[in-house]
Amino acid sequence: MFDQYKKRIENALLQAIEKMGEKSVLRDACAYALINGGKRLRPILVLMIGESLGNCDVMPSALSVEFFHTASLIVDDLPAMDNDAMRRGIPSLHIAFGESAALLASYTLMAAGYGGIHENGKLIDDEKRAMECLGYAVKCAGIQGATQGQFYDLFPPDLTLETIQDIIYKKTVTLFEISFLFGWIFGGGDLAKVPLLKKCAYHLGMAFQIGDDLDDGMQDSSHVRGLNIATALGQDQAFACLEEEICSFEKTLKELQLWSPSFQEIVQGLKKPISLNIH
Ligand code: IPE
Ligand code: IPE
Ligand code: MG
Repeated sequence: MFDQYKKRIENALLQAIEKMGEKSVLRDACAYALINGGKRLRPILVLMIGESLGNCDVMPSALSVEFFHTASLIVDDLPAMDNDAMRRGIPSLHIAFGESAALLASYTLMAAGYGGIHENGKLIDDEKRAMECLGYAVKCAGIQGATQGQFYDLFPPDLTLETIQDIIYKKTVTLFEISFLFGWIFGGGDLAKVPLLKKCAYHLGMAFQIGDDLDDGMQDSSHVRGLNIATALGQDQAFACLEEEICSFEKTLKELQLWSPSFQEIVQGLKKPISLNIH
């Protein structure tokens, strides 16, 4: 099922790159960052949710989330951030194209992210829903979300559980939040359910980042860069938080009547670090 979603997203990404404008080094840099081994989880969520509601086309906003996500990864790898030379199994964008192109590709993809919301609004001919989504994107991409999260990831104000959860919310959950909201709002879902959608995305995003941190720590502790909940709080507390978040995620999905074999598969994936835990 996921392969099908992934193929559709990757075809749509190729078309979107063509439509960005004439071929240039900067466009090639965007294509390099976008077309590689990404799992496409966030745009898949937009399609899963949007398409479970009806027949509205939510692909432009699904791409929008992948653009925001990729833009954040480009910045995350820069020497001034995590200084990571590899991304998605290939040299990071700043290694392949240089830092200037990497910075500008990130700005380009942020703009393309907002463009996807505009395009989806036109496609479903619903300005009100597009404005709602635009507002959520502004919150999630800016200082209440990803940029502050990235900053605190490097310079955490303290290492209490509450602060770490707040940082994970800002740097990671926000992108899951817009995935759920774009799928739901552009898909024609009931706007009164938005708070529950946010809650559902919160538990998934938390579980995802805790799992990723546990995984990073278990693979190679010298690889841990930036804030890592498993390193900051210890593996036991991180595993306890992970189990709690997965459980709440499943419960909220059911409340929203979104539970499906695809979501079951996502839950299985989230549980992997637990099954690999040998302590
Ligand atoms: C990486 O996200 C960033 C984190 C929040 C840990 P993904 O693991 O979804 O990255 P891609 O898109 O598959 O490369
Ligand atoms: C990357 O987070 C992107 C953000 C969530 C801002 P990480 O630094 O934890 O993830 P990787 O290990 O680089 O993919
Ligand atoms: Mg990183």
